[in-house]
Amino acid sequence: MHELDLRLKTAAGFVRQGSRAADIGTDHAYLPVYLILNNISPYVIASDLRKKPLENARRSISGLSLGDRIELRLSDGLDAYEPGEADDIIICGMGGNLITDILSRCSWIKDKRYRLILQPQSHAYDLREYLFREGFSVIEETGVRSEGRVYTVTAAEYSGIKDTEFSDIDIYFGKLIYRKDDVSREICSRTLGYLKVRYKAELEYGNRALAAKFESIIKSAEVLLNEK
Ligand SMILES: C[S@@+](CC[C@H](N)C(=O)[O-])C[C@H]1O[C@@H](n2cnc3c(N)ncnc32)[C@H](O)[C@@H]1O
Repeated sequence: MHELDLRLKTAAGFVRQGSRAADIGTDHAYLPVYLILNNISPYVIASDLRKKPLENARRSISGLSLGDRIELRLSDGLDAYEPGEADDIIICGMGGNLITDILSRCSWIKDKRYRLILQPQSHAYDLREYLFREGFSVIEETGVRSEGRVYTVTAAEYSGIKDTEFSDIDIYFGKLIYRKDDVSREICSRTLGYLKVRYKAELEYGNRALAAKFESIIKSAEVLLNEK
């Protein structure tokens, strides 16, 4: 059987014990199989936009006698889901902007009963900004190194509190900036590098207000990262 990589194992670790899960963009359905075989979820809907990944999923589950506990479904994001079919909604291995687009097209996820488990391949800050702006709270967030790359995995739940103050530090670094492990620090240092590039570009092209904004985020982040 396929050994789950640390990236997906970390996402699985954020799934609430006993919750029915939905894995959006499942491809080989490795995560749904893990959730069932480890008795984390009693039932998982594994969906994908395309037929070919669902064929991969069918191959992964064939012979495991999990047919009644894993449902395969063709769906663009959450379009083919009914509210309440799953408790924990997992979206891993897609760009942060695509994840944001999938979430923003589904109104019923704004409900305290659901948990979102998200692992963006890029643009984690755009995804965080969407979550904060729309009233979701980040419950847990960690960095993980898997097969030579680093990833951020986030669990969020709807709190409905849209006017919560959230800072640029929250958006760009999230909870990772308060973590002391090497991987979270590496991701923060990469984000800092990105902000420095943005700062220099804004300075060069004359947008002084934006340059000042990036400078201020960089300074605050450096203070937090240097705290023991
Ligand atoms: C890189 S794979 C990630 C597979 C798995 N989730 C993982 O993290 O290893 C991305 C998968 O998302 C699917 N996908 C892309 N856009 C999607 C959408 N709008 N709705 C559902 N699935 C989508 C692709 O077909 C592909 O199978």
